[in-house]
Amino acid sequence: MPATTTETATLTVGEKSIQMPTVAGTENEHAIDISQLRQQTGYITLDHGYMNTGSCLSAITFLDGEQGILRYRGIPIEQLAEKSTFIEVSYLLIYGKLPTKQELADFTTLLTRHSMIHEDMKRFFDGYPSTAHPMAILSAMICSMSSYYPQAVEPKRQLEQLDMTVARVLAKMPTIAAFSYKKSMGQPFTYPKNSLSYCANFLHMLFAVPAEEYHVDAEVEWALNLLLILHADHEQNCSTSTVRLVGSSGSNMFASIAAGICALWGRLHGGANQEVMEMLELIHADGDNVDKYIALAKDKKSKFRLMGFGHRVYKNFDPRAKIIKRACDAVLAKLGKSDPLLDIAKRLEEHALSDNYFIDHKLYPNVDFYSGIIYKAIGIPINMFTVMFALGRLPGWIANWKEMLESPNTKIGRPRQIYTGPTEHSYVPIEQRG
Ligand code: CMC
Repeated sequence: MPATTTETATLTVGEKSIQMPTVAGTENEHAIDISQLRQQTGYITLDHGYMNTGSCLSAITFLDGEQGILRYRGIPIEQLAEKSTFIEVSYLLIYGKLPTKQELADFTTLLTRHSMIHEDMKRFFDGYPSTAHPMAILSAMICSMSSYYPQAVEPKRQLEQLDMTVARVLAKMPTIAAFSYKKSMGQPFTYPKNSLSYCANFLHMLFAVPAEEYHVDAEVEWALNLLLILHADHEQNCSTSTVRLVGSSGSNMFASIAAGICALWGRLHGGANQEVMEMLELIHADGDNVDKYIALAKDKKSKFRLMGFGHRVYKNFDPRAKIIKRACDAVLAKLGKSDPLLDIAKRLEEHALSDNYFIDHKLYPNVDFYSGIIYKAIGIPINMFTVMFALGRLPGWIANWKEMLESPNTKIGRPRQIYTGPTEHSYVPIEQRG
């Protein structure tokens, strides 16, 4: 539980000084509680991009960007990546503890039983052109689910229906994601198969075609499981904050998660994994000229950024990137594949890590730098990469939405602003305008 400490912060504005309480988290993170600032001084805080603003108290994920630490409910990401499964991690994030054998079995059965989508929803896919990005389809479909479960949308019944809503979203998202891929390929949909695990079932729906037998490769299933675990939560990032902000107005979980999917789509967030692959392909097509692109990334006039590099929070290394880099070599070796893009990625990393610009700006490979190479090796097309991120981040979004709903501190999210437009002036009739 967070504690209000005995320390206070003093702020002086002009002649007036005020005392503000401070708050400490369980990992000794400190915050100044500024909730009385405006009432007492007339001032608000201004913090572009919320670089120093805590928006909530949360017991889900801890990360320390300086030390490269990431823990879900206190458990280090390295241990979860090695020993757990995505379903177990989802339970951990959403319900706050590791499940017992029985709880895990019940949760798995629930997810298996709810993996089909309503047959009517299949027709929605027909309305999209073949050029539709799967993220557009995914967010629309998740929002549309709210029309099939009206009881889960009623504000008074949201808590009572919570476990079922959690199960429905988690169970149906892989089906919707796989169907949107099938639609883009012009292939018939493959229905979920209840005998398969969550990850194996997703691969089956993605790659099975009626004309052939499809066996899920154990290495591929392992790699997918690992990638989903590594993406499962990352505290108050852009998409998770969006989910909380939308939910804070009383919007239902489907609508809030649909908004999170849209926030994730952007190239500075989840869309970066697609951009990394496109960048590596560009460099490959340009004669593997790594030096040229390192120089471009440093040149402020070029607007080119090294995609998959840099992070708002991690300033030494991203622990997820370390795990993924190792897994990348292992997956390619196990599948007997080589990829020239992996060689380019390693050369880029090597160059960047010894270059003063990247050292001074504390820019290191992030989770998206190597994940695309694994997705490519297991046969997932580039425009599905951000959908894969969304599948992974889903339990984090659900856990944060649930925590927001259950917290006594939740208020509708409503930042303020400093107005910089024109001061008052009168309306001029059109005949009198120049
Ligand atoms: N390549 C070159 N320069 C960079 C890069 C990069 N990838 N990232 C940041 N910089 C520079 C930037 O130009 C600025 O330089 P200066 O101070 O000299 O003007 C400085 O570093 C700080 O950049 P910023 O954009 O103010 O930093 P931020 O904390 O707002 O942005 C970021 C973080 C992740 C958006 C940014 O590093 C970036 O655009 N990276 C590439 C996109 C990417 O890989 N995104 C995925 C993030 S990890 C997955 C996720 O959680 O979403």
